[in-house]
Amino acid sequence: MRLGILTGGGDAPGLNAAIRAVARRAISDGGEVLGVRNGWAGLVEPGGLRPMDRHEVSGILAVGGTILGTSRVNPLSDAEAMSSVISHFQEAGLDALVTLGGDDTLSVARALADRGLPVVGVPKTMDNDLQLTEYCIGFDSAVAIVTEALDRLHTTAAAHHRVMVVEVMGRDTGWVAVMGGLAGGADMIVIPEFPVGLDDIVTHLRTRRQRGRDFSIVVVAEGASIAGLTDGGEGGGPRDAFGHILLSRRGVGPQLADQIEAETGFESRVTVLGYTQRGGAPTAYDRIWATRVGSAGYDLVREGRFGQIPVKRGDQVAIAQLSEVAAGQRQVPEELYRLAQVFY
Ligand code: F6P
Repeated sequence: MRLGILTGGGDAPGLNAAIRAVARRAISDGGEVLGVRNGWAGLVEPGGLRPMDRHEVSGILAVGGTILGTSRVNPLSDAEAMSSVISHFQEAGLDALVTLGGDDTLSVARALADRGLPVVGVPKTMDNDLQLTEYCIGFDSAVAIVTEALDRLHTTAAAHHRVMVVEVMGRDTGWVAVMGGLAGGADMIVIPEFPVGLDDIVTHLRTRRQRGRDFSIVVVAEGASIAGLTDGGEGGGPRDAFGHILLSRRGVGPQLADQIEAETGFESRVTVLGYTQRGGAPTAYDRIWATRVGSAGYDLVREGRFGQIPVKRGDQVAIAQLSEVAAGQRQVPEELYRLAQVFY
């Protein structure tokens, strides 16, 4: 069996653990493994596949990023690119392809499976918002980084009696903001699922001061809308190949800190955690989950169950259809959002 492995979209800690699991299982079964370079770019362009032996997938369990490289190249945007993917897939003689990615990468995997190609998926996004599954590779590591940052920001915010706005990742959902905020004791959390206005934020911060709390930590997800602040909408800024606006340039955190200071007179600062949330070593949880789900992805290949994807349901690995990828984002439940509010 010739098995391809591809990682697409934003990187996430734990991807290498999953690559290792898929490759080691395949090599133990006597299979041949080919790594696809840089996401779908490695199949759109010629020469994007390279053989991987056991040595190459050793020592990568604890390493962040992806040894295969990644990109946001989107062959679905162009029929010619899609036929290049299919012909390079066939020329390479692949018996199967395991694609590790979020909704964008998996939407391409699904389109290939719909055309009869032997493709399976593995869910990865530190945003943790794939509808298919209760967990995605990279989320726990991102939450750990946000938690540590909030712990550090608490001491400096307290020393200077400041409002600290902390912008974290989360385009459509606030999983990283809410779980990081719960773990790090945020004093207010602003996420796309539960919109608030600038007035609500300012009123809350004034109330905290009146209660004698002379510093506050506000966690805001990069994709949150705040009435009175982001009313101009997403704007016409640069977009990636899947049509998503580059939120790193949107600057909701810096704008919020400026407006809080302007309206309250409380000295305010912003910290944009940005790509630190996706970098570095995976947590133990991500290493273990990525190993389980990567191995389960290989099981799907072995059983010929293409167009499918291993997911988390409870503490078990369950199987879903790649066709369910487009079903929308999995949102933060109100219960978790309200729980965080208890500590505001
Ligand atoms: O991986 C998901 C994500 O982290 C989003 O939250 C974020 O908007 C996006 O990736 C930004 O990544 P990039 O700048 O690499 O496209």
